[in-house]
Amino acid sequence: MDEEQLLNVWDYERAAEERLDPASFGYFAGGANDEWTLRENLAAFRRWVLRPRMLVDVSEITTAITVLGTELSLPVLVAPTAFQRMAHPEGEVAMARGAAAAGTVMCLSTLATATIEDVAEGTRWFQLYWSPDRGVVRDMIERALAAGHRAIVVTVDLPVLGRRERDFRTGFELPEDVAVPAFVALAEQGSVTPSQINSVVDRSLTWRDLEWLRSLSSLPILVKGLLTAEDAALAVEAGVDGVVVSNHGGRQLDGVAASLDALPEVVEAVGGRAEVLMDGGIRRGTDVVKALALGAKAVLVGRAPLWGLAVGGAEGVQRVLELLRDEFELALALCGCSSPAEVTRAHIGLVQNDA
Ligand code: LAC
Repeated sequence: MDEEQLLNVWDYERAAEERLDPASFGYFAGGANDEWTLRENLAAFRRWVLRPRMLVDVSEITTAITVLGTELSLPVLVAPTAFQRMAHPEGEVAMARGAAAAGTVMCLSTLATATIEDVAEGTRWFQLYWSPDRGVVRDMIERALAAGHRAIVVTVDLPVLGRRERDFRTGFELPEDVAVPAFVALAEQGSVTPSQINSVVDRSLTWRDLEWLRSLSSLPILVKGLLTAEDAALAVEAGVDGVVVSNHGGRQLDGVAASLDALPEVVEAVGGRAEVLMDGGIRRGTDVVKALALGAKAVLVGRAPLWGLAVGGAEGVQRVLELLRDEFELALALCGCSSPAEVTRAHIGLVQNDA
């Protein structure tokens, strides 16, 4: 299928599956255990309906927002997904180029297949897996600062890797020609598998450790992977600037709520004291409107730009993000909103199941 015929994220997913080897596609697409939460992330968006308002002047529409001092052309950021050279030879460098061309942020994963310095284009936020070696953490943060990153996103829902049965079935290993700088010490130990992520993440981390991170940098700090009001309150007490409501794309603890369903509880607990973003299940511009209506300032997309990367490199990433922006702009107009800020809780309702 030519890329011009790819009309939405679903088309890109199918095209990416055709291009990627089964093990790599399975790694990106898969979730934990029975993949119930993976499916719930998508199903949740079908449990909420949009409540459009009519006869509103939508002759002038903007999709732009500013979040934590970063201006975006749409409230959609590229989530920090790992091992992107498995999707395309230019990996994270192309992802950053495509995100920049679309006018949004790319979150660079600690488990990138490029160095922090290699990924230099556009506005970047640094996603941190907190190593057991604080010297490694300090070094990464200092390098991200020097490379111009504008925020730090601490992933907190992976003290240990979830059970990825697709990877067990395919015997997934990182291709030998795909190096992961964070793993470089491991690579000498032979083939690199995702389970070695456990060796670069500190399982003993607690909220108190964020004070030390704050001492390293004045950049905004977000914690990614919260699903409860209790943790949202602790995050605010810890002084974070933002939280990302996330279940890691259904890849960690299977059986947790869909991110969209957890969002309202976290938004209420944060109470405006930090920015709230969410990821998980975003495939359409209407999904972005639903997330904003439930209180998110913006969303992150992981798999959607990965499919764009696999199909068309930087241009593919840009096209997927622009598809989402066009869909989002249309959804705003049809909801009677002329900007993301005009989307409110009144623009969404739960599907009324038959009695
Ligand atoms: C994963 C980690 C690396 O989901 O974020 O595979």
